[in-house]
Amino acid sequence: MNLQVIEHPVVRHHLTQLRDRSTPPEQFRAIVGRLTSLLVFRATEHLALRDRNVTTPLTAFHGHELSQSIGLVPILRAGLGMIDPVLSLLPTAEVWHLGLYRDETTSQPVEYYSKLPPGRPVDVAMVLDPMLATGGSAVLAYHTLKRWGVPHVKLLSIISAPEGIDRLRQECPDLEVHVCAVDQGLNERNFIVPGLGDAGDRIFNTSGHH
Ligand code: PRP
Repeated sequence: MNLQVIEHPVVRHHLTQLRDRSTPPEQFRAIVGRLTSLLVFRATEHLALRDRNVTTPLTAFHGHELSQSIGLVPILRAGLGMIDPVLSLLPTAEVWHLGLYRDETTSQPVEYYSKLPPGRPVDVAMVLDPMLATGGSAVLAYHTLKRWGVPHVKLLSIISAPEGIDRLRQECPDLEVHVCAVDQGLNERNFIVPGLGDAGDRIFNTSGHH
């Protein structure tokens, strides 16, 4: 597993605002979008290119285009908050939703939606989920994509806990992980501390219902 943490002042600035409990959903969504744009910029740094020749208004130009098929895999619900900025950078990407929620008593991921078609997997899959806590959801998503036959799987998460990172190290050998921060750890309910609360609830304004 290859871990990349984005150390960047703009990331620190926005992430602090995201952690602030008084940040309302509208602003929270906008910040998730900004941080996702930075994550995807990093996560696409080594995508393969092939030659593409075009003619500029002045002359012939020997250029390039992305050569691999890319699948974006938002984990429902919270990953939906990350899809738009990634699609605006990669407008021809395929989007494959995975529905996973974490059982509140066992902290185990439960799959409720997965419709990956048999055969013809994408070359590169980017799993989008703002939070990596115990790592259960990410491990399940990784194995699902590997079973589909995806050669390169990347995970883009805004915040993470060391427990989840360790688990990915053990169980997902060839996974590439991009995060904005690795927090202190998990509390007794397996919530990331200091964290930002429940990203799904804060994105979709459903915090008051637990
Ligand atoms: C959260 C989060 C991840 C998962 C992380 O989802 O968005 O999917 O928990 O936890 P893990 O690393 O311990 O598996 P949640 O269950 O809150 O669902 P939601 O996105 O529908 O709110």
